[in-house]
Amino acid sequence: MFVLSPLIAALALATATTAAPPTPSNPSNTTTPATTNTSAPTYCVPRAVTPAEQSEIFAAFVQEFYVVRNVANAFKLYIVADYIQHNPYEPPNGAAGSVEYLTPIFSNLSIGVEVLHQGFGGGIGWVHSRIDNIYPYPRPVAIADIFEFTDSCVKEHWDVTQELPADATNPLALF
Ligand SMILES: *[C@@H]1O[C@H](CO)[C@@H](O)[C@H](O)[C@H]1NC(C)=O
Ligand SMILES: *[C@@H]1O[C@H](CO)[C@@H](O)[C@H](O)[C@H]1NC(C)=O
Ligand SMILES: *[C@@H]1O[C@H](CO)[C@@H](O)[C@H](O)[C@H]1NC(C)=O
Repeated sequence: MFVLSPLIAALALATATTAAPPTPSNPSNTTTPATTNTSAPTYCVPRAVTPAEQSEIFAAFVQEFYVVRNVANAFKLYIVADYIQHNPYEPPNGAAGSVEYLTPIFSNLSIGVEVLHQGFGGGIGWVHSRIDNIYPYPRPVAIADIFEFTDSCVKEHWDVTQELPADATNPLALF
């Protein structure tokens, strides 16, 4: 469209006025209007970092994901595009599928999300959290999430989930 428009303008000019010769289109002029850089990365692109920086990045991810609950931003900043994950209900491959799956959950403030413990070491971060009012569980749920890094980004995820049993005999069950 942008390549053709000077030619169309030139043709319109040629039919409207016979006095002025049409401006020749310059095929070597490849100037295009400023647009969104569609090849710019949408998700985290790994760069070499120290273990201490990796630990700080993980803490920032936990804050954005579980506390701020901005799933799209957390994934964009900290997770690779070809994220692999093993939760049985989320799509297995690709950050975009997990963002689509998780956004309605984390943006729903009727669902409680509380980080109880977290840690990082050897390129792996983990979070132990309590989730309340999440379908299909009527009782509180404990989740252990495990995130493996590649350089500065999360690349893979596993989680283990347990609902508080209705007949728990331990008053300290799960939490
Ligand atoms: C290319 O076309 C643009 C838009 O018409 C114009 O602003 C620019 O000066 C042209 N550049 C050259 C090198 O012809
Ligand atoms: C677009 O993004 C890619 C990937 O980050 C980058 O290599 C390229 O220089 C960018 N192009 C422009 C015009 O900004
Ligand atoms: C938010 O979560 C609550 C509790 O699980 C659920 O009843 C409600 O339908 C959810 N709201 C939306 C918009 O999904």
